[in-house]
Amino acid sequence: MKFNYTLGAALVAATLATACGKKEDVAATPAPAPAAAPAPAKTSVEVLHYWTSGGEAASASELKKMLEAKGHEWKDFAVAGGGGDNAMTVLKSRAVSGNPPTAAQVKGPAIQEWATEGMLASIDSVAQAEKWDELLPKVVADVMKANGSYVAAPVNVHRVNWMWANPEVLKQAGVSGMPKTWDEFFVAADKIKKSGNVALAHGGQNWQDFTVFESVVLGVGGAEFYNNALVKLDPAAIASPTMTKALNTFRKLKGYTDAASTGRDWNMTTAMVIGGKAGFQFMGDWAKGEFTAAGQKPGEGFLCAAAPGTANAYTFNVDSFIMFKLKDAGAQKAQADLASAILSTEFQEVFNQNKGSIPVRLGHNMDKFDDCAKLSATDFVASAKSGGLVPSIAHGMAVDPAKAGAIQDAVTQFWNDDKLSVAEAQKRIAQAATN
Ligand code: BGC
Repeated sequence: MKFNYTLGAALVAATLATACGKKEDVAATPAPAPAAAPAPAKTSVEVLHYWTSGGEAASASELKKMLEAKGHEWKDFAVAGGGGDNAMTVLKSRAVSGNPPTAAQVKGPAIQEWATEGMLASIDSVAQAEKWDELLPKVVADVMKANGSYVAAPVNVHRVNWMWANPEVLKQAGVSGMPKTWDEFFVAADKIKKSGNVALAHGGQNWQDFTVFESVVLGVGGAEFYNNALVKLDPAAIASPTMTKALNTFRKLKGYTDAASTGRDWNMTTAMVIGGKAGFQFMGDWAKGEFTAAGQKPGEGFLCAAAPGTANAYTFNVDSFIMFKLKDAGAQKAQADLASAILSTEFQEVFNQNKGSIPVRLGHNMDKFDDCAKLSATDFVASAKSGGLVPSIAHGMAVDPAKAGAIQDAVTQFWNDDKLSVAEAQKRIAQAATN
């Protein structure tokens, strides 16, 4: 999600470069002789995604199975890198060279940017036939549409403001129960540190820093403050004493992480909790996919709770697939089948049990889901009513990618540089928000 330039500028620059390159190609390469008509082949559907960890790969393979069952061939286009920054860079270079994949995992306001470039196919025919407007929460449907047309299909709802814990590590340290406030968290973390384990498993990558930061802002300031500061980007909220307090709390967390945290991937970080090396992790519920893939169950191998101070709020993160405008009729059929498969009850059930998220279809039966997913589903509905439902800025749901990337940089600089003052960080965040 970290873009140093807007999508439009990149597309223009790279399209020019490709156009120049093409001229030479045409001059140098003779036209190929017409080949004999091949036997009708299965359409291969190239799907770009960044689901490469254990739990994620298990989820992606369900999508593959579903599509193959509809007679298409899955061409995997996985680009490793949590949070999807790498995948977005690769996607842009493929799109600007005039060769986009059939579908790509893109979400939030970035969907609008791709639509504005005129590159997306409408999937309205599927959406209308299958009544997506009735199936989906409005807050989700709105994000999937550009100019009133569906251009993306949503897969799930991830909650970001989670805290994961290893119950054995807590017990050994004499911590009873999950901390509900930041003060309680620091008391528990001190005990774990004393017991010789890492209190807070953290992967020092910009998007992971940002993920923790948004949960701290939500916990310290509440949903309304979060909305003002990180969705509306209100300068007064960013400069406020509440933000000062959030940044101080965020900085304090660093003292509970281990020295090897820098650069660690998120799933390796979750593995520290799974393996009993660390007490807590703050991460969205794709982390639950890792616990599940390791054969653990909530309440036994691991615990889940809303991050301190955020029980009545919910930072949502909806994964979705955009479909590119393609001429080939087979590809268009595959896109319609993919969109339809994604929203089917069967797919929503099995995919989300592996992924750690909850189904995006309203009223989906949660009986077979675990307790963390049930809590997520209940809290999603409750927070939508109370005003506690807010989009995740760290996961590309709240503001446009360029601004989110700039704010993320400011937050990461603050996390990494202990000499950078809180006041200076507030200034840098404010500046990033206005660029
Ligand atoms: C995506 C998840 C993914 C996670 C880690 C999030 O932004 O929404 O689907 O599992 O990043 O890569």
